[in-house]
Amino acid sequence: MTATILDGKALSKTIRAEIAEDVAKFTKQTGITPCLAAVLIGEDPASQIYVRNKERACKKAGIESRMHRLPVETTTEELLNLIGRLNNDQAVHGILVQLPLPAGIDEQRVLDAVRPTKDVDAFHPENVGLISQGRPRFLPCTPHGIQQLLIRNGVELSGANVVVLGRSDIVGKPMALMLMQKADGANATVTVAHSRTKNLADVTRSADILIVAMGVAKFVTADMVKPGAVVVDVGINRTDDGLVGDVDFDAVKEVAGRITPVPGGVGPLTVTMLLHNTLAGARGRGKGERGRGML
Ligand code: GUN
Repeated sequence: MTATILDGKALSKTIRAEIAEDVAKFTKQTGITPCLAAVLIGEDPASQIYVRNKERACKKAGIESRMHRLPVETTTEELLNLIGRLNNDQAVHGILVQLPLPAGIDEQRVLDAVRPTKDVDAFHPENVGLISQGRPRFLPCTPHGIQQLLIRNGVELSGANVVVLGRSDIVGKPMALMLMQKADGANATVTVAHSRTKNLADVTRSADILIVAMGVAKFVTADMVKPGAVVVDVGINRTDDGLVGDVDFDAVKEVAGRITPVPGGVGPLTVTMLLHNTLAGARGRGKGERGRGML
């Protein structure tokens, strides 16, 4: 059996067209152009590519993007200063600080300084708390993209056994929080597994839906997957074989029912959800309005 591909690139195109239409309507009605301020410190090549993709996607959707490129020697205080100015700039609706930050910068202080109502990454503790309580202001971009990919491809989440492999603040933890909620497009039974989990293959084989965000190339092998399972690969690893995910795609696709490719799976959806959050910020999520967060 060969798995069906869950095509994140195609879905991204559809959702970005929906967002562009919504942005055009919003701007016509209010005279406001949604605006994302992105901050990139240093020369990390992957981050440069991500930020360039974000800029391009904003432009195509009718969203203004303001880039702040700072040298690698930038201090925490200097960065906090810039964030303070962006927090107070009425024309800016979303603020994104590209991670990872160079060593020496206090990441926690920086992320905590972003005004929660402009926190389109949903990294601020206030926004994480709201997600945990099932009343999100913004949803974090990668987990939201995965949730949309599953919902819009008709994958049943209610009652499903979901195993999230990885416990990062960016993907694993919020993904688990979102899918366990008592809500449409959730209601899953969620297990979070990680590098210290015992009998890991037994755990992953229990998954109807396996979401992998470990950051280790080809970590998930065919014997770790239940036949027919849905496999979502969040990994992007640069290796001698080129760009590969956290899943051994060629072997796992013979066991899984559906699988995301790398590239062209989760990656494009992350940027798409950032556009959604920036529009939501401009709409008044920034004024304390509580939406469902979800598309
Ligand atoms: N670096 C890797 N993923 C992300 C993300 O979702 N947001 C930001 N700001 N940086 C990242």
